[in-house]
Amino acid sequence: MSTSPIRSKDRFLIFGSPAIEDAEIEEVVATMRTGWLGTGPKVAQFERDIARYKSASHSVAVNSCTAALHLSMLAIGLKEGDEVITTPMTFCATVNAIIHAGATPVLADIDHSTFNIDPVKVEAKITNRTRAIVPVHFAGRPCDMDALCALSRRYNLKLIEDCAHAIETEYRGQHAGTFGDFGCLSFYVTKNIVTGEGGMVLATNEEDAGRIKVLSLHGMSKDAWKRFSDEGYKHYAVIQAGFKYNMMDLQAAIGIHQLQRVEEYWLRRQQIWRQYNEAFADLSIGIPIDPEPETRHAYHLYTILVDEKSTGISRDTFLNSMAAEHIGVGVHYLSVPEHPYYQERFGWRPEQYPHAMHVGRCTVSLPISAKLTDDDVSDVIAAVVKILRSGRPHATRHS
Ligand SMILES: Cc1ncc(COP(=O)(O)O)c(C=O)c1O
Repeated sequence: MSTSPIRSKDRFLIFGSPAIEDAEIEEVVATMRTGWLGTGPKVAQFERDIARYKSASHSVAVNSCTAALHLSMLAIGLKEGDEVITTPMTFCATVNAIIHAGATPVLADIDHSTFNIDPVKVEAKITNRTRAIVPVHFAGRPCDMDALCALSRRYNLKLIEDCAHAIETEYRGQHAGTFGDFGCLSFYVTKNIVTGEGGMVLATNEEDAGRIKVLSLHGMSKDAWKRFSDEGYKHYAVIQAGFKYNMMDLQAAIGIHQLQRVEEYWLRRQQIWRQYNEAFADLSIGIPIDPEPETRHAYHLYTILVDEKSTGISRDTFLNSMAAEHIGVGVHYLSVPEHPYYQERFGWRPEQYPHAMHVGRCTVSLPISAKLTDDDVSDVIAAVVKILRSGRPHATRHS
């Protein structure tokens, strides 16, 4: 068995490295030359472009998905004691946004085959204090929106979709992020399209979008960002204690061009996803199930499950072995109740959410950026095969 790494150190494959092309580089430079770096016409254009792509009624650009989630929680008027149900298989930002809005997060376990929140578990957690459900379309696979929308109607609950992974995601022909009151997108560096840091709130009604806009810029009245424009000085009125969450034109300059390639990038990630599925079909790891009928998966993450019981190697040893092959990998995610803050504050224990715990302890995300070359993909496959060679064969689908 060869002991030299699959890739040389100077070719370390960075996990989630975005494809950045000349058009956005030139637009950023042009934006800098205009002298208008902050929120301005490019942000307004990016908002329109995203709204058109997502067939959304309204869109407000912000500086992260975390900000988008926080403002959405505030906009539904959560009060202390209110409960918001979300998934344990998410990034901490989803849960923190609920906490920062003054409400109490409540977790409902995932379905073990999709990694998405299980509507049956959600219903079991609904109390007379529940105000909202926050589904996360994990890895870009849509949640069971028929069931979640039915719960939201039956119990009169707000719906805020965390679409950080789900720009291209569709469910029965409808875009993720347009099912409930708000949809929150991320354009963070590792996401399907990027602006560096960046996010967007999709809103179903105009009044909600206006509220988000005001909250995103100090609580200043709408269009306060135009106060220094060539239309003459405009006074603004502060009508709420808001936040500094606005997106800059410099960021939108990147996003406008990235969005034009969203479908091209999606096709490339779909191709990589299929290559991985085929290459790993006979290995002892878990691989993702196919997208459900009538859905569009965004292929944001390709996650395998490395369960020591079937592979003979622990997940963390596997992570380190991939790094030794000079291939960057990720973990999405250790389940939320694994983290000490939530254990101490809410008394959560990972064992209470067994599916999320198992996934979180076995999952590994392999590189799937549209930037990967065919050689990069072959290297990832060769490294996975090499590391598992001593393990036992037999593939399993996530179940
Ligand atoms: C599921 C999920 N929600 C929210 C966020 C927060 O996004 P951002 O980094 O744009 O604030 C992320 C980021 O990784 C995420 O994966």
